[in-house]
Amino acid sequence: MSKKAVTTALKHVLADTYALALKTQNYHWNVEGRHFPSLHPMFEAQYDALFEAVDEIAERIRALGEKAPGSFSEFAKLSTLAAPKSTQSENAMVADLAAGHGHVASTVTAAMKAAQKAGDEATADLMIGRLAAHDKTAWMLRSSLPSN
Ligand SMILES: [Fe+2]
Repeated sequence: MSKKAVTTALKHVLADTYALALKTQNYHWNVEGRHFPSLHPMFEAQYDALFEAVDEIAERIRALGEKAPGSFSEFAKLSTLAAPKSTQSENAMVADLAAGHGHVASTVTAAMKAAQKAGDEATADLMIGRLAAHDKTAWMLRSSLPSN
């Protein structure tokens, strides 16, 4: 695998991470229900962390010598995350975000494998950190859902 395969995979990670950050911010704004007092700040902490990750991923693309995508039209082409639904119930929002972290984790895994094949340990290390962050956030979200 080449450096080009790594930067292409990273651009998909960047777009998916941005889309998940925006979806989380959408739900921070639009969530309604009994658990608003806990979900509103939890979603804020999660999109803050995602936007921080977006910056790190974009700057890794720059360090590898490519321009980082940074427009809604580019992100729409590169991201495969489902669009947010701002009218759904609070539980459906939490479940959608948990699934979204799983979705982005699979995009991250593809980039990690491309980086490992290319011998790009710095990118692989960044992706491994992202995987752990997505796993942890997905667990926190799942734990906020009623157990039945
Ligand atoms: Fe806010």
